[in-house]
Amino acid sequence: MSIEIVRRLADLRSVVGGWRRQDLVTAVVPTMGALHAGHISLVQAALARADRVVVTIFVNPKQFNAATDLANYPRTEAGDIAKLQACGAHLLYAPAVEEIYPPGFATTVSVAGVSQGLCGAFRPGHFDGVATVVAKLLLQTGADLALFGEKDFQQVKVIERMVRDLDIPIEIVPCPTVREADGLALSSRNLRLSAAERAVAPRLAAILVATADRLAVGAAVATTLAAASAEIIAAGFRSVDYLELRAASDLQQHAELDRPARLLVAAWLGETRLIDNLEVTRRGVGI
Ligand code: PAF
Repeated sequence: MSIEIVRRLADLRSVVGGWRRQDLVTAVVPTMGALHAGHISLVQAALARADRVVVTIFVNPKQFNAATDLANYPRTEAGDIAKLQACGAHLLYAPAVEEIYPPGFATTVSVAGVSQGLCGAFRPGHFDGVATVVAKLLLQTGADLALFGEKDFQQVKVIERMVRDLDIPIEIVPCPTVREADGLALSSRNLRLSAAERAVAPRLAAILVATADRLAVGAAVATTLAAASAEIIAAGFRSVDYLELRAASDLQQHAELDRPARLLVAAWLGETRLIDNLEVTRRGVGI
C-alpha cells in the first residue's frame, strides 16, 4: 500500500477521524524531515504498538534561534517519502507554515522548569517553539501515542511535562538514541559536517561514555566534568555549550550522583552544534 500524503489539517482530520471510527490505535512520530535511521526506528516502534502511524514533517520556524539555521536546515522531502513508504508508515502530514501558524496566530506554550538551563539557556525560545508546535501536532492528529528520540532528552522532558500539565490524552513514548557504528548519535545536522569534522564527531560520544563510567564508580562530579570538557576541546571541538549531570526524572541540577542521572552535552564542531546524552547510574549503590 502506498503512503497517503496530506498537507491540510482538514484532510488530516478526515483520515484520522475514519481510523478513530474503526477503533484503530494511532501513533504519531513528529519530525522535521531529513529522515535518518533514528527516525525510521521511531516509525518501526510506532508500527509495533499501533494500528496506524502518522509521521509529520514540519520544519518549525518557531524553534530556530537563527534565521540562517532555519534556512540551512536540510529539506529532503522526496527521499523522506521513499523511506516512509519503505518502512510502512500509513500517513504523512506535511503542512505548510501557514497551515500551522495562520495569520493572527498568537499562542505560545511555555513549559517552565525543564525548559530552563541546558539547551534552553543557549537557545532562548527554542523549547517554547517546540512545545507550541508539538501541542498542535498532538491535538491535530488526536493520536493515542507519540514517539520521540531520547537524543533530544530535554525535549522529551519538556513534552512529557506539557502533556501532563495540559491533560493532553496521549502517551509519550521515549525511544533510545540510534548511533552510527562509531558511536555518533544520528542527527539530521550530521549532514552538515565536513569529512574532517565527521572524523572528529564520534569523540563526543566516546568522551561521554568514558565520563559516565568515571562517574559511575564514584569520581567527583565537578572535576570529572571539567576534565571531560577539556577533552572535548582537545579532540577538535570549537566550544562546549554545556556538559552537565542532571536528575534523569526532572533535569534538576545535583552535584552528587545520588539518584538516576543523565549526562548531557552540547558542543560545537565548526559551525555545527551537536548534542548527546547518556544514562548514568552509580554502580553498587542500587539506583
Ligand atoms: O525533534 C524534532 O525533530 C522537533 O523538535 C519536533 C519534535 C518535530 C518539533 O518540531
